Amino acid sequence: MYQKKRILLIVTGGIAAYKTPELVRRLRERSIDVQCILTKAASEFVTPLALSAVSSNPVYQDLFELDESSDMGHIQLSRNADLVVVAPATADIIAKAATGLANDLASTALLATDKPVMMSPAMNVRMWDHPATQNNLQTLKSRGVTMIGPEEGDMACGEHGMGRMVDPMDIVDAVTNFFDQDGPLTGKKALVTSGPTHEPIDPVRYIANRSSGKQGHAIAAELAKLGADVTLVSGPSQQPDPTSVKVIKIESARDMLAACENSLPCDIAVFAAAVADWRVDLEAEQKLKKDGTGQIPDLKLTENPDILATISQHPDKRPTLVIGFAAETEHVIEHAQAKRERKKCDWIIANDVSPATNTFGGDENTVHLIAKNQCEAWPKLTKSDVAKRLAHYIADQMKEEQA
Ligand code: C5P
Repeated sequence: MYQKKRILLIVTGGIAAYKTPELVRRLRERSIDVQCILTKAASEFVTPLALSAVSSNPVYQDLFELDESSDMGHIQLSRNADLVVVAPATADIIAKAATGLANDLASTALLATDKPVMMSPAMNVRMWDHPATQNNLQTLKSRGVTMIGPEEGDMACGEHGMGRMVDPMDIVDAVTNFFDQDGPLTGKKALVTSGPTHEPIDPVRYIANRSSGKQGHAIAAELAKLGADVTLVSGPSQQPDPTSVKVIKIESARDMLAACENSLPCDIAVFAAAVADWRVDLEAEQKLKKDGTGQIPDLKLTENPDILATISQHPDKRPTLVIGFAAETEHVIEHAQAKRERKKCDWIIANDVSPATNTFGGDENTVHLIAKNQCEAWPKLTKSDVAKRLAHYIADQMKEEQA
């Protein structure tokens, strides 16, 4: 018999709390039962009455109002749910959860639960960047807590940066993916590369490029949403780790290749990283010094391994579908077609990255999908829409391969 899923939604005191009635409504539209805990600070931004009305459940606020008669002790409250979601999750609740503090209903429920926990952080950029918060996040992630966001943008306090709570629909997607084990890519393993690589010159200097990692991270997120078991191998990037994705952070092209090879076998591989073509042949062990003689270091470059070409031609673990990117500044389609044949991948996503397009670092991308005997022009889309469309094409292709 179908059992309605239940969420315990813990709302803590960030301005983004005003978005939670909408979140509750969207979850209920998907037949998910929502029980809310509201902290005292959160009730400054959203009323218990509003949450109670949209959830059709009582809203709990105080550790000591829970008694036998309400049949809802804090232990029971946290165990009755299939999933605990904290949104918005302030720096305070993140710190409490990381250290195991339990001095109000929200933190007590988090400590008492035996269910998976998702948190959607929301805070000022400096609070987000603070090493204390970053350490707490690492602690929680290492214990299996899933972080949804945050995202970069303008903040209520007037500053700009990382720390905005994601759109409520992104939380709904993460929750429905968690419950819905049957996406079109369920059972498939995917590998995605993203971001730039850093090639060391000496212990403090490196060669890099302007890749932001936005496109690769978005592809990893979308494949996960369709049910794939995704490993993202990422060079240095400011992008938050996508929800429900295993992230391996590397610096150089050689590290990226090793991490990719260790992630085989897989069914799908998407190489969206902007891998440096060359590295310094001999990395200096000590910092190169400007000694006043005017002598300039002679940096001899050597070629990096081509990860896409290596995995495409893997003797025994070639993924079923291998997709590369081709960032070009001229003759985009011709160059991309030649690249597809040279690197022996199945599809190439070709994009024009000439400076006028603002593709590198920007939010939009205009691409062509190039396969054998096929070239399809896609309209200008946001990088997340390119990722969505690509993930669905991949799902269709995997279905055909299976048929
Ligand atoms: O040769 P080019 O750098 O233009 O090829 C781009 C494609 O090849 C991208 O998919 C990129 O991720 C991949 N690539 C790679 N390893 C390299 C260079 C590029 O995987 N060393």
